[in-house]
Amino acid sequence: MDTLREVPPLRDLLRDARASGRTIGFVPTMGALHEGHLSLVRLARQESAFTVVSIFVNPMQFGPSEDFARYPRKEEEDSGALAREGVDLLYLPDPAAMYPPEFSTAVEVRGVSASGEGEIRPGHFRGVTTVAAKLFLQVAPDVAVFGQKDLQQVAVVRRMIRDLDFPVRLVVGPTVRESDGLAMSSRNAYLSPEDRRIAAAFPRALFEARDRAARGERDAAHLTEGVRRELESAGLRPDYVHAVDPETMAPIAIAAPGTAIAAAVRVGKTRLIDNVLVP
Ligand code: PAJ
Repeated sequence: MDTLREVPPLRDLLRDARASGRTIGFVPTMGALHEGHLSLVRLARQESAFTVVSIFVNPMQFGPSEDFARYPRKEEEDSGALAREGVDLLYLPDPAAMYPPEFSTAVEVRGVSASGEGEIRPGHFRGVTTVAAKLFLQVAPDVAVFGQKDLQQVAVVRRMIRDLDFPVRLVVGPTVRESDGLAMSSRNAYLSPEDRRIAAAFPRALFEARDRAARGERDAAHLTEGVRRELESAGLRPDYVHAVDPETMAPIAIAAPGTAIAAAVRVGKTRLIDNVLVP
């Protein structure tokens, strides 16, 4: 595995890979890698011949009172795990080069980014789409792989790719979970043992709503109210529980196959997000 930190050698290496006829698969991450990330790497390897992973804790997508400074950083461990997965190129952008002095440009996807995470984390998706656009221009992948766990991120990036004609195919990998159902997340490391125990109620509440919908409960307000009650009685504090169209993030009143139930909760000082799709 090659490891590069600068754009010119990155472009040279990728030009050679393309010239030899290989398609480029790309998995952007913020590191502190877990099985969820590695599942996306495996998907990228299936979908393309040359696999690139980036690790960049993107300051632009964190709010001023968020966890940018304490976000876990594990470059050596991550690098070892990616090499074992057969990744061809690890890209570790230098923050000063990504955001040079007087950086003045942003990519903003309106509408689909406004509700949910966008409402609670103002500017978050602007940071995500700006860095995603930069990374897509630097790596120029044929395929980019994102996780279903960040449902709204997928919707926002999908819209950006369409609106700006990025020549990249978006592949979405399913959410990888711990044995008790909790979605894997780099932020799970923040949970105290007690919070970690309580957090297991989060996926349980979502699975229950999904199963009720599968059994024929169509009223989305009933479903989300049920989730909210379960979360609160477990000691989790919901930021929101929404039934939405996963493409547009528009609220849904009558749940149907493909409707997403997405929620964010707080436990202790940690914020967790998760979602399920009605089968
Ligand atoms: P990060 O949180 O590191 O996630 C990188 C990718 O892994 C995202 O596409 C995310 O949806 C996916 N992922 C996270 N947990 C997962 C799980 N349990 N199962 C499956 N996939 C999972 O998302 C970001 O970084 C950033 O916003 C980024 C896109 C890199 C832009 O900075």
